[in-house]
Amino acid sequence: MTINYSERIPNNVNLSEDRALQRALEGWQPNFLNWWQDMGPEGSTNYDVYLRTAVSVDAQGWAQFDHVKMPDYRWGIFLNPAKEGRKIHFGDHKGEAAWDSVPGEYRANLRRIIVTQGDTEPASVEQQRHLGLTAPSLYDLRNLFQINVEEGRHLWAMVYLLHKYFGRDGREEAEDLLARNSGSADNPRILEAFNEKTPDWLSFFMFTYFTDRDGKFQLKALSESAFDPLARTTQFMLTEEAHHMFVGESGVARILRTAQVMKELGTDDPQRLRSAGVIDLPTIQRYLNFHFSKTVDLFGADESSNAATFYSTGLKGRYDEEKHDDDHVLKDSEYRVLSADLTERSVPMLNALNEVLRDDYIKDSASGVGRWNRILNKAGIDFELTVPHKAFNRNIGPLAGLTISPEGRVVSQEQWQQSQSQWLPTPEDRAFVQSLMGRVTEQGQYANYIAPPSVGINKQPMDFDYVRFN
Ligand SMILES: [Fe+2]
Ligand SMILES: [Fe+2]
Repeated sequence: MTINYSERIPNNVNLSEDRALQRALEGWQPNFLNWWQDMGPEGSTNYDVYLRTAVSVDAQGWAQFDHVKMPDYRWGIFLNPAKEGRKIHFGDHKGEAAWDSVPGEYRANLRRIIVTQGDTEPASVEQQRHLGLTAPSLYDLRNLFQINVEEGRHLWAMVYLLHKYFGRDGREEAEDLLARNSGSADNPRILEAFNEKTPDWLSFFMFTYFTDRDGKFQLKALSESAFDPLARTTQFMLTEEAHHMFVGESGVARILRTAQVMKELGTDDPQRLRSAGVIDLPTIQRYLNFHFSKTVDLFGADESSNAATFYSTGLKGRYDEEKHDDDHVLKDSEYRVLSADLTERSVPMLNALNEVLRDDYIKDSASGVGRWNRILNKAGIDFELTVPHKAFNRNIGPLAGLTISPEGRVVSQEQWQQSQSQWLPTPEDRAFVQSLMGRVTEQGQYANYIAPPSVGINKQPMDFDYVRFN
């Protein structure tokens, strides 16, 4: 499974044996590079960045580190090896052989799933486009760029599937993935959270913690797919995704150096802390509330006949499908979802699979928030960050537009309006956080609002030249 880097498009799928496909992808490649120039990390063209690049998909080869000039990064097509005799293990086709090609009757749904996933990858690069100009250290700048190049590669992963398995409409979809833009008024990205701004580094860390984790859950569900090429490509994407969430979790943890300053100054007064150049905890909580609520919307409506179809036809499984102790067909199972008055009701589980995935996601999100709280606790600070109630600030499904507090209390429209400034980032919060964003480019130096990391990338020292500007 070694990746052939002598070809124009590095790959481990024997691309050179399929001349038509190779030509089609080589035709898309310059469009991708143009998009990267226009919409990718601003001003990064001449930098040498200490990046990891995959040379094979096995444990030894997937993380090779070296300084790379950013536009020379070798985006390519890497699939995990096929498992001999792999069987479909859920839905109506359970027990049958996994598919190497797309069954005609599932073509439209599969294409839609792949396009929706593919659309998020370049979207996040666009959202993060300006962050390099305000990186708090070379270490952070390098992590941003690592995430950006890998999201670019995830786009390649989906475009390969579209080109190889979906003919002309697949090629058109691949073009459209470069034509839509995050936040564009007339041609936006498909999902709402991917049209939001990521204007500062607190937003970036919250985004990579919460929204890249949505990516993890979607990819985990797709890695169960009966369509084997989709399963194998998402399995490899997941190895890269872990670092993105690490950047988010450790980034917020480092910003919680606020706790030390609170101790030193003996205050929890946000204004005094802001004057000291750190971000007060209530503001961090409001950012958390925003990113969490935007992200839980990504899982879709709590009841969805599409979700049922995707599962029953074998296109998309559950998180850790094989760990569920049931029949993996789910025709007779039920699941509890929330009504608009926040009471629970039982519905057929097949229809509630978006909610099942959302609930698994919420559990996973909460564990890292617990680790952030241990930092506050150890510093002797009496403040707990919390994951808001899942009905808070929702925009999809029956919970959309309800006025629910972060604790899960139904409040009046008036109370909701009055409490906005305590629950979600205000323009003043955003302006303050923005005011801290100055670029730090000296080796081993870190902006005041954020602590240095506890270990370097690939065990390099803290003052390593993670980025060379040339
Ligand atoms: Fe991704
Ligand atoms: Fe990611």
